Amino acid sequence: MQKQVEYQEAIKTKYPEQVVIAIAKDKDGKANPITLGWTMIVSGKPPMMAIAVAKTHYSIETIRHSKCFTIAFPTSQMAEAALFFGSRHGGEVDKFAEFECAHEPAKVIDSLLLTDAVANFECTLESEAEAGDHIVFVGKIVASHMNTETK
Ligand SMILES: Cc1cc2nc3c(=O)[nH]c(=O)nc-3n(C[C@H](O)[C@H](O)[C@H](O)COP(=O)(O)O)c2cc1C
Repeated sequence: MQKQVEYQEAIKTKYPEQVVIAIAKDKDGKANPITLGWTMIVSGKPPMMAIAVAKTHYSIETIRHSKCFTIAFPTSQMAEAALFFGSRHGGEVDKFAEFECAHEPAKVIDSLLLTDAVANFECTLESEAEAGDHIVFVGKIVASHMNTETK
């Protein structure tokens, strides 16, 4: 049986959801990580992923500037990092300087990989679309990495 309710009430039932951490560099070369729950695979051939970023977030600027970003799938041990990166404005703080989270240079694009993540994907910005209060960025995956140590 279904009961019609307000959107806010019904959508709560979808959680919990998997989150990702997307990283793009700003004009000064500072890498800015952002935690995102609104993300999806949008193409298999070629592989592509989309992320929805609120218009007020610093990441809008960093992704538009660098035209590329990485998407990391964190482990559950990285929950604190995901919370930190998901609650600070990159225009005001250097998140990687303030929160220790192992990272290394991406191999193809100018961004970072999260060393302990389950997997990392390097994306070049393919397109963007306005969606209400968010911008949906579609990235084409140009390199993929998986962690050979996590279980
Ligand atoms: C679990 C979690 C999921 C989130 N999902 C999203 C999301 O899908 N889209 C979004 O724009 N912000 C999302 N946020 C909020 C941003 O991560 C947060 O506002 C962040 O500080 C913005 O960083 P920036 O200003 O450096 O870009 C999420 C935060 C958390 C903790």
